[in-house]
Amino acid sequence: MKQWYKNRKKDHFYQLAQKNDLISRAYYKLEEIDKKHQIIKKSSKVLDIGCCPGGWTQYVLNKSGNQSVVGVDILPIEKKFNDNFIFYNFDLNEFEKISEVFISKNYCFDVIISDIAPNTSGNQFLDQANSYNLSFLSFQFIKSFLKKGGFFLVKNFQGEDTEQLFKEIKFQFNKAMYVKPNASDKKSKEIYILGLEKK
Ligand SMILES: C[S@@+](CC[C@H](N)C(=O)[O-])C[C@H]1O[C@@H](n2cnc3c(N)ncnc32)[C@H](O)[C@@H]1O
Repeated sequence: MKQWYKNRKKDHFYQLAQKNDLISRAYYKLEEIDKKHQIIKKSSKVLDIGCCPGGWTQYVLNKSGNQSVVGVDILPIEKKFNDNFIFYNFDLNEFEKISEVFISKNYCFDVIISDIAPNTSGNQFLDQANSYNLSFLSFQFIKSFLKKGGFFLVKNFQGEDTEQLFKEIKFQFNKAMYVKPNASDKKSKEIYILGLEKK
């Protein structure tokens, strides 16, 4: 753990986030993906799954325009954002319960982003299986809550199920691709799948 903290302190994106008073270095991952693929538009309604501590939400709300974000996380969020942010403290495994709330609110999003990640155990197979479960649950939200033409971005720890997840996403979108932004540790198994224009 000590080594992890030492490495993080030396990390370019960590230092940049500190210098620019950003919540997390993850901010730069979404920024890079968005600059390349323009997924966050002016006034986009965004669902941010696994939003804590809030780096991605901060990026969306910082961007010029009147974007709004609904965030979900199993942890409470400390950062106070403006009124364009609504937070739900839910475990994603309670998918039915979250869906009921979202239906009652008539939510329909332009973009769904999910940087959700399980607590890692050190057992690669277990971590990948847990990651797949969370990525797949995130994908379940597109059916009822993502507009036609909308965008979907989801993290996954690469494993034997990743290609299956990719195929399922590809089927629902006009275009799908893998993305690995520079701020994502080269050595980590983390990869993002991006679905462009929901069919
Ligand atoms: C890598 S962090 C997300 C970082 C965030 N995108 C940012 O920019 O600050 C992953 C998040 O997934 C959340 N998470 C993990 N398991 C979850 C679950 N079952 N339900 C909801 N959130 C979960 C964690 O609490 C954590 O906040």
